[in-house]
Amino acid sequence: YGTQTINEQGHLTIGGTDSVELANTYGTPLYVYDIQLFRDRARAFQQTFEEAGIGYQVAYASKAFSTIAIYQVAAEESLSLDVVSAGELYTAIKAGYPVEKIHFHGNNKSLEELQMAFEAGIGCIVVDNFHEIDLLKKLSEQLKRPMNILLRVTPGIEAHTHDYITTGQEDSKFGFDLKNGQADKAFQQTYDHGYLKLMGLHCHIGSQIFDTAAFQLASEKLLQKMAAWKEETGYTCPVLNLGGGFGIRYTEEDQPLEPAVYVKQMIETVKQTSEASGYPIPEIWIEPGRSLIGDAGTTLYTIGSMKEVPGTRKYAAVDGGMSDNIRPALYGAKYSSLLANKANAVLDETYTIAGKCCESGDKLIEEAKLPAAEPGDILSVFCTGAYGYSMASNYNRIARPAVVFAENGNHQLVVKRETNEDLIKQDLSYSQQALKK
Ligand code: LLP
Repeated sequence: YGTQTINEQGHLTIGGTDSVELANTYGTPLYVYDIQLFRDRARAFQQTFEEAGIGYQVAYASKAFSTIAIYQVAAEESLSLDVVSAGELYTAIKAGYPVEKIHFHGNNKSLEELQMAFEAGIGCIVVDNFHEIDLLKKLSEQLKRPMNILLRVTPGIEAHTHDYITTGQEDSKFGFDLKNGQADKAFQQTYDHGYLKLMGLHCHIGSQIFDTAAFQLASEKLLQKMAAWKEETGYTCPVLNLGGGFGIRYTEEDQPLEPAVYVKQMIETVKQTSEASGYPIPEIWIEPGRSLIGDAGTTLYTIGSMKEVPGTRKYAAVDGGMSDNIRPALYGAKYSSLLANKANAVLDETYTIAGKCCESGDKLIEEAKLPAAEPGDILSVFCTGAYGYSMASNYNRIARPAVVFAENGNHQLVVKRETNEDLIKQDLSYSQQALKK
């Protein structure tokens, strides 16, 4: 992946740095990000839009991995930023993110969160439901401040990894239904509001999608809706936001397309649909998370205990697990791995990689083909950059790992490892005298 290679010592390198040295320096488990790869992925998306000569925004969906440092890199790469909570917005503001490039998502944004967005002066709020429209109208009128909005709709397309279906997804907690008039009603309620500026429609049809057809169908449906509104009212929405969801390769089974291919197809469909309906070509906004940051991240673990169930399998346990990567336990997600300190050795063993949490289901990889392993070996698990750290927990009161950025042969700590002291920071002592009525 990316700039990963194997050096003369037979060690895996990430961003030009020796992963075994990183493990020795910072300890394990450790998330290591190849920052050049993130930059390359961002530029590939942007370049495709540039070449097509079309207005665009590429927003990093930061739920995939949200920290001050990655926000700083995203800002350097001129990305827009998708945040979904006060916490992500706060982190972005603290990182000095250009606020006009921040988009705010969520199906239940609180009044406080919306107020924070207005006060920061962010670029756009992606409106999810009628309750939110009411809150936004009240807030904008009270504060006498304008706000760009997009309406999130459910286009009735459910994209899976290898195929898509055009029903079912209407039953979603997100967004306005497109078919039964909710989107029309939301349009009526917002398009001529004094402070809310309706920029267009948004949809997000799924995640880890390998297929371009679902994106094409979604862009057609949304654009046709915007064209119909223009017919009725003369109002033109300048933006079409098609969300994220572009798939990446976790294992050899996954066969994603290059990001540019998804984007090219999207642009083509939007141009054709615009032409057919006489609608001015809108700006296209996308929100990739996983496809920007997923394969840039690798987790390094130290192997500890090992166990053989005779005739059945060999277990190798690592010093992390579902607390730093919930995806295998939660979604049955599959990962590839390597012994980072024996990266050239012959793969003549098969191990089940177990985590250290007190749950039988805490297994990171079912059948990892590895060289003969022993306690102390460093295991690298690839493609953990998206939804790894961001979904990490303190289950079993396990401290969350540190995060390191590696780039051009250099490395930098960007999130400190949690300590046991951190784990009890919010805890208060119990005392019977202090109980309140
Ligand atoms: N935009 C919206 C509105 C989204 O809901 C999401 C992801 C994205 C963009 C970015 O999608 P991506 O490009 O990363 O696929 N925790 C799950 C993934 C949940 C995705 C939620 N929404 C996982 O670990 O696979």
